[in-house]
Amino acid sequence: MGDNARQPVLDETLKNAPTTHAKLLAWVAEVSELTQPDSVYWVDGSEAEYKQLTDELVEAGTLKRLNPELFPNSFAGSSDPKDVARVEERTFICSENERDSGFTNNWMDPAKMKGILRERFAGSMRGRTMYVIPFVMGHLDAEDPKFGVEITDSAYVVASMRIMARIGSDVLRKIEELDAFFVPALHSVGAPLEPGQQDVAWPCNEEKWIVHFPEERSIWSYGSGYGGNALLGKKCYSLRIASVMARDEGWLAEHMLILKLTSPENKAYHIAAAFPSACGKTNLALLDPTIEGWKAETLGDDINWMRFGKDGELRAVNPEFGLFGVAPGTGWSTNPNAMRAIAKGNSIFTNVALTDDGGVWWEGMTDEVPEHLTDWQGNDWTPEAGRPAAHPNSRFCTPIDQVDMLAPEYHDPQGVAIDAILFGGRRKTTIPLVTEARDWTNGIFMGSTLSSETTAAAAGAVGVVRRDPMAMLPFMGYDAGDYLRHWITVSGKGNQDRLPKIFLVNWFRRTADGGFAWPGFGDNSRVLKWAIERIEGKADATETPIGFVPTPDSLDLTGLDMTPEQVEEAVKVDPAEWAEELKGIEEWYARFGESLPEQLSAQLKVLQERFAA
Ligand code: PEP
Ligand code: NA
Ligand code: MN
Repeated sequence: MGDNARQPVLDETLKNAPTTHAKLLAWVAEVSELTQPDSVYWVDGSEAEYKQLTDELVEAGTLKRLNPELFPNSFAGSSDPKDVARVEERTFICSENERDSGFTNNWMDPAKMKGILRERFAGSMRGRTMYVIPFVMGHLDAEDPKFGVEITDSAYVVASMRIMARIGSDVLRKIEELDAFFVPALHSVGAPLEPGQQDVAWPCNEEKWIVHFPEERSIWSYGSGYGGNALLGKKCYSLRIASVMARDEGWLAEHMLILKLTSPENKAYHIAAAFPSACGKTNLALLDPTIEGWKAETLGDDINWMRFGKDGELRAVNPEFGLFGVAPGTGWSTNPNAMRAIAKGNSIFTNVALTDDGGVWWEGMTDEVPEHLTDWQGNDWTPEAGRPAAHPNSRFCTPIDQVDMLAPEYHDPQGVAIDAILFGGRRKTTIPLVTEARDWTNGIFMGSTLSSETTAAAAGAVGVVRRDPMAMLPFMGYDAGDYLRHWITVSGKGNQDRLPKIFLVNWFRRTADGGFAWPGFGDNSRVLKWAIERIEGKADATETPIGFVPTPDSLDLTGLDMTPEQVEEAVKVDPAEWAEELKGIEEWYARFGESLPEQLSAQLKVLQERFAA
């Protein structure tokens, strides 16, 4: 340690550390030496600590306390306008071999990247507190708990992590007790303060680096304070790093919701569904069925870890502790379950609009638009403003146990046995409302060719069709071909009679006149019912080249103002549209080169032959 003035901080860190875990102490010392914070704080996860942190964030102007009569114990803050979404072009998978990062992610040689990052992190926490957050993704009493420790210089990140993951002293005790491995997850907003320099409400850096070292299982994130860039337990750990762990350990780390459905006969089914960001995962996860006698309960809305159980069933666990949902489009009419959870309070909102009575608002929250708001950037706003009041990627961050319809099995480390897997995207044409795969490999083919029009959840153009395999394009921690091969082969660990059925869905198809072909939201329960009846061998289907679609009268349309002809339009397989789609799939598969599993090129060939026949 060269800089003598730094010695006291380091000594204090080690002397007052609430742990004797040698690896953790060594890492904390190393990071504090590199980043040079004013002080080091070990997060215990307590209520009192949360109060202290949020008080400080209010004092600093990062957060505003909302009217407690409307949103108890809740806060809203706005980010820097240049720090509003995940930054995929700045996201790197630094595997030792470039081949292992694949074509879907950015790669750089890990040693070279470490050099760049060390320069950026050097002194990056000057004038700030360095927080050490022990966390676990999944249950603390899981058979093989997945630990992490995030070091961050953002109190906003600490407060948000407390909602999104199990954190604090209990976790630290368990890491010690098991002498467990933890993922070192290092985060800095990259905005050191000179002595006397006034801080800004949302410190960040123009330059951002979201970097994963899969072999080391470590994360370095620099320059952003926003969501998935900064709450490192979420996308960085639970998807990118965990997908690599899952490959090596024989399980699946996926971008999926988990939903429990109970039939009128009182039989429970569990559905896992992958959709790209901002395509309605949270709405489907919290759906209110519109069909008589069916009950829905949720287990998760974003991340799903699945492994085969001892009877060969595929079991799913949500490793998260909260919801980090896209606010716009979440409303009292479209998602009352989310709204009730949010209204209980204990939430942090980012980039939403503020109402004059100290509440929050976003497009789609209520049918009636308020006459006056403060928009997400702090400007006066009226409905005539001609711009949205909330940022399209604004978020609510809310504890999941505030959801009334949370399934009790959420708390079970063994999770639930999955009966059906859905892959879905946002497509105006071509993709039917629902298609049942012929078998597991055909389902993997569907997932591998999944496509969607891009949304505001990531920086970049909106509305462009892109392929997004299993909705994991931005989240795969290794080569996409290897990832698909893992999906194919991992099924060998399961009981072949109990493998989930796989379905491709599209809630967003348009009719010739431009309207939606399907009402969506709660009525999606009708599609789920059909899927379950297919599992039970009870519902009819029409075989098409791409798989099985519902016959017009096999979908339950009771109480719905929709004709069988309209259903036919929603599920039609149009050969002209598919001629285009097949070209798109061919181009997509060409990008995999050698690493495309041969089972999938065979699937494409058979599909082309079916259309040619
Ligand atoms: C995020 O961006 O932080 C996030 C939670 O991911 P998504 O884009 O999938 O909502
Ligand atoms: Na790459
Ligand atoms: Mn997501």
